[in-house]
Amino acid sequence: MGRIVNLDGTLVAPEQAVVSVFDRGFLYGDSVYEVVRTYRGVLFELPAHLDRLAESARRIALELPWPVPRLAAESKRTVNASGNPESYLRIVVTRGEGELGLDPALARGGRVVLIAQPLTTPPPEAYRSGVTLALVGAEATGRHLREAIDPAAKTGNHLNAVLAMKAARERGAYEALLVDAQGRVTEASSANVFAVRRGELATPPLGAGILEGVTRRVVLALAQQIGIPAAEAELWPDDLCRADEVFITSTTRELVPVTHLARGEKDTVTIGSGRPGPVTLRLLEAFRARAIAEVAAARTLGA
Ligand code: PDD
Repeated sequence: MGRIVNLDGTLVAPEQAVVSVFDRGFLYGDSVYEVVRTYRGVLFELPAHLDRLAESARRIALELPWPVPRLAAESKRTVNASGNPESYLRIVVTRGEGELGLDPALARGGRVVLIAQPLTTPPPEAYRSGVTLALVGAEATGRHLREAIDPAAKTGNHLNAVLAMKAARERGAYEALLVDAQGRVTEASSANVFAVRRGELATPPLGAGILEGVTRRVVLALAQQIGIPAAEAELWPDDLCRADEVFITSTTRELVPVTHLARGEKDTVTIGSGRPGPVTLRLLEAFRARAIAEVAAARTLGA
């Protein structure tokens, strides 16, 4: 049990998992990645994550060194070898190493690193009481433009999110809320954002400049199945302040209720009742049930 690393197809202990300082992932953030988690030991929505990895790679013209079926097989092998009851799996593909210089043609071929470690999830308190999002932006941490590197690509170039998280944590918040250049809501530093208004679910469209979260997609589908109207909509921070409920979604966090929005240093707004709301909790329950059902089915199929 614990942490194990798959380095270009070889399973090694974390201490042996070293890559060159000339790797472009290290030098330039020239890489793509995914985070997947298990339920009952089975990787949840692995095909969707690998599709997104391939799409992220395509967006930055990075050739995946392995075909997707091999990535899937190595992912499962790594998680199984870790022996953890539940695992967090990080899949990283870099453009590899080469002579110093920005030109990708200097790279001598991609590198794949898979890290499996025990899954950690948010503390129960986050689900019981909800969390605070801090609106960041003044520190130049707004989501960068789609016309630059589209946030739809999950790349290792993560400074935008790192600085947003730093700003949020300095203000005592759990996560950051990033807006675009016009001030519209995009997403959190590593999660998508949803609002519930008069029983209806809304989340920013992909055109807002966000990552298309796998959890986001499952939540939208589930809402439809259980009769909660859901739509993509342009949202402003004020819309979140006036919403009945707000929550964020990501692989490791599922749905976390947001009960406060810190707009400024001394300006924190309570969302709805200030407690996790009924629609959020219903969707969270449905999401967990769906995850368990999906992995049970995958196990039956021998996945
Ligand atoms: N982050 N938006 C951003 C910018 C993200 O980095 C993530 C995921 C999400 C949610 O996507 P998903 O539901 O597919 O996890 C949205 C992962 C968990 C991470 O970087 O750790």
